[in-house]
Amino acid sequence: MLILGIETSCDETALALIGTRPASTAAAGSVSALDCRVIASLVHSQAALHSAYGGVYPSLAKREHGKNLIPLLHKLLTQADGAFEKAGTISETDMAAHLARFKSEIAPQNPELYESLAGASFLRTIPKIDRIAVTEGPGLEPALWVGLTFARILSEIWNIPVVPVNHMEGHVVGSMIPSDAPNGAWQTLFNIPMPAVAFLISGGHTELLQVDTIGSYRLLGETQDDAVGEAFDKTARLLGFPYPGGPHVSMAAAAAREAGIQSPVELPRPMIRSGDLNFSFSGLKTAVLYATRKAVTDETGALPDAWKKGLAREFEDAITETLVSKLRGALDQVGAGSSPAGAIIMGGGVVANHVLREAFKKVAAEYDIPLFLPTGYISGDNALMIAVAGALKNAPVVTGTGAALRAHGTKRLSE
Ligand code: KG4
Ligand code: ZN
Repeated sequence: MLILGIETSCDETALALIGTRPASTAAAGSVSALDCRVIASLVHSQAALHSAYGGVYPSLAKREHGKNLIPLLHKLLTQADGAFEKAGTISETDMAAHLARFKSEIAPQNPELYESLAGASFLRTIPKIDRIAVTEGPGLEPALWVGLTFARILSEIWNIPVVPVNHMEGHVVGSMIPSDAPNGAWQTLFNIPMPAVAFLISGGHTELLQVDTIGSYRLLGETQDDAVGEAFDKTARLLGFPYPGGPHVSMAAAAAREAGIQSPVELPRPMIRSGDLNFSFSGLKTAVLYATRKAVTDETGALPDAWKKGLAREFEDAITETLVSKLRGALDQVGAGSSPAGAIIMGGGVVANHVLREAFKKVAAEYDIPLFLPTGYISGDNALMIAVAGALKNAPVVTGTGAALRAHGTKRLSE
């Protein structure tokens, strides 16, 4: 099967084209009994544009997705040329009819998307794609709608069914992909022993889930306010680092460790003794805010460099200790059930953090279970994970303009 993945839930415009086939080597009946090859996968980050606003600005994200999708698709299909067959050509008359309809149905809400569509003659060549997988949520609704509208356009002109995908499920299956290399080589998706504990940590989410199988999830705990990535980003802002600040805080913390700089203050480990698996990071951010106010000594408002590094180190430690403690709690809770946790799955942009990765590896070793970490850019938002999640679905596939294609800003993985 050839699958096109589309991801526009936040500030990354991403497209991927993958091939799948029944696995040649995976154990019979395993959920991941699928071979997959990455034909092409592109991520266009808007982070630099949002940086000026100190966070993602939804209407800007929407406009940028609208502008970027068609050129990105052109690039994707050009890169993938030769890896797929053509199913035919749309005549100029038929294309004009499609465009006339899109002008009234799509242009009013998505002028950028319509405009770039109108000039895209490459769309008249129909690629032999079997399925379009598109993120329906959770995420920023205006941004999600652009991806869904784009999926609908391609579905209508190319006559290809669409499967809506939950973004968080994408992050779960991201850890099953052995390599992100778009070299077209076949690889068998990792077979994750179930039940697994999935820990999803990104700019918008902090969730602990029990995964009974791909497609069946139970929420164990979640944040009551800010997400982990958000806490990193807000702390980064207070320290004067640009958005997205997570990597900057992490680099400053690493520099502090290397130079032996201790923390100037002690930050709380929020909800570590709450007795449940929920999180709260807004208090941590407030503690950082008070600490920075106190530390500013001169009238320029600048924070001393070593102070910033020390604080970043303490912040990273506070986050790591909190996450590790909750992860242990989740493993113990699942372990108390009929079958103990067989694996830990990590997903979300914050997984790029090295200190956290190492800490999670230690927990996995302690519990003697495998840890599935996404490789390379798959930890962040991408369309490869969406395409793979779409491939693993036997779920109803929507054709054409079905009303089933809707943005769900707060959609949950576990109902
Ligand atoms: O999953 P993601 O790409 O986007 C969503 O939020 O869905 O996650 C982005 C988040 C941002 O908050 C960013 O600051 C954080 O991941 N992040 C990091 C690191 N790299 C990215 N946080 C801490 N350490 C990092 N190395
Ligand atoms: Zn994400």
